[in-house]
Amino acid sequence: MTNHLTVVILAAGLGTRMKSRKAKVLHEAGGDTLLNHVIRAALHLVPPERVVVVVGYQAERVRASVPFPGIRFAEQLEQRGTGHALMCAREQAETQTGRLIVLNGDGPLLRSETLRALHELAERERAAASIVTTEMADPTGYGRIIRDQHGMVSAIVEQKAATPEQLQIREVNPGLYCFDAALFWRHIGALKPDNPANEYYLTDMIGILKRHGHRIVPLFVADHTECLGINTRLELAVADALLRRRKANELMLAGVTIEYPDTVIIDAGVEVGQDSIIEAHAQLRGNTHIGANCRIGAGSILRNCELADEVTVLPYVVAEDSRIASGAVVGPFSRLRMGAQIAENAHVGNYVELKKTSLGRGSKANHLAYLGDATIGSNVNIGAGTITCNYDGRQKHPTQIGDGAFIGSNATLVAPLEIGPGAYVAAGSAITKRVEPDALAIGRAYQVEKPGWAKRRREAVTVQES
Ligand code: UD1
Ligand code: CA
Repeated sequence: MTNHLTVVILAAGLGTRMKSRKAKVLHEAGGDTLLNHVIRAALHLVPPERVVVVVGYQAERVRASVPFPGIRFAEQLEQRGTGHALMCAREQAETQTGRLIVLNGDGPLLRSETLRALHELAERERAAASIVTTEMADPTGYGRIIRDQHGMVSAIVEQKAATPEQLQIREVNPGLYCFDAALFWRHIGALKPDNPANEYYLTDMIGILKRHGHRIVPLFVADHTECLGINTRLELAVADALLRRRKANELMLAGVTIEYPDTVIIDAGVEVGQDSIIEAHAQLRGNTHIGANCRIGAGSILRNCELADEVTVLPYVVAEDSRIASGAVVGPFSRLRMGAQIAENAHVGNYVELKKTSLGRGSKANHLAYLGDATIGSNVNIGAGTITCNYDGRQKHPTQIGDGAFIGSNATLVAPLEIGPGAYVAAGSAITKRVEPDALAIGRAYQVEKPGWAKRRREAVTVQES
């Protein structure tokens, strides 16, 4: 591309209609902030240095929420309208050649394909500006598109300034513009706050360019949902549902089976391999990556997890920041957190919690256990009810269990502790000292048996009662 392209994203407003203490663009839909969705669309067209985000209300928080290095910021200290926001971005964004794309920061459904088409249209038509338009059944709140007798766009009229006839127009401005940069900056001084809101409206630029004899070309987008601007929490919920559905559709078209797709929640950054199956009400959050041929059980919530191919997650597993290798089976009702690692063909069953713990190849912890700060070898059997006592009230301590060890049910393993390979721990033991390889450790009181005691007691009681 020979011509320069700069994208300015408007994100300085408070968003009064959200009824929030938090800046509107920080609200989340589809697993990310409204603003980050818009930036991501822009980054499909230009490198980060050519994106300028105008911040103002809660500027620091908004800056901090943007995870893309290299993005530039301009500050609009006082929010005096979308046109004023551009005035504030002039130093960062001004070029005398090429194109200037301006995007509202509150339109998270925008597709990069549409942006590209908008840019190409402006170039092809050598227009002063191209703008996206769409039709809304209920256009309330949006600027209306005014067309002249030739069907060309001649102005945008804001809701508050529109005549009753203009309010009938259902073709609206979603706030996506591609200007000739030189023309835009030449005329920006003509924006005036001569409207009921006393704001500088960016939308007035369309009429100004038209009056100077320049051409404005519309790009009509049939799917109006892509053009939704989020002003209220109701609209936020609508955008969230649409973004979720869009992600699910993408995955399904790429070869993932999703049962009841309207019930799952899958964040934008999640990847899922071919022929994996996602059951109803599963949630895949953050940077979760799932391999091929996996199954994610109903109601499971995975955040920032790495799953290899052929992993089975049964229903209602809650896992964060954990890795699960091929052939492993986890769940139902398991909890993995803080870097838990499940090796190939290992099993983690119901009511088993692993924290900062690795479970080796083919090892099993199938029922009711807490395994914290533990390194567990391969082919180990962790009996039901096993507890690593990793915390002494002040510090956390590690437990090591060697390959092939067998931990009997209800063992209490007091850390720091090492259990050698091939060792046995008797059921019900409290183990406080190192267990040698291949040894049997029993840490419990010896069983005492009193023959006939129960019978004598029953008989004694019977005598008293009679
Ligand atoms: C704007 C458009 C309207 C369009 C609608 C689409 C104007 C005057 N109107 O109206 O034609 O139909 O978007 O959603 O542009 N912002 C700033 N600084 C400000 C004011 C706003 O950066 O001083 C930012 C906001 O943070 C927001 C974006 O600009 O991301 C749009 O502002 P908003 O107040 O939501 O404009 P609308 O009233 O929706
Ligand atoms: Ca808006």
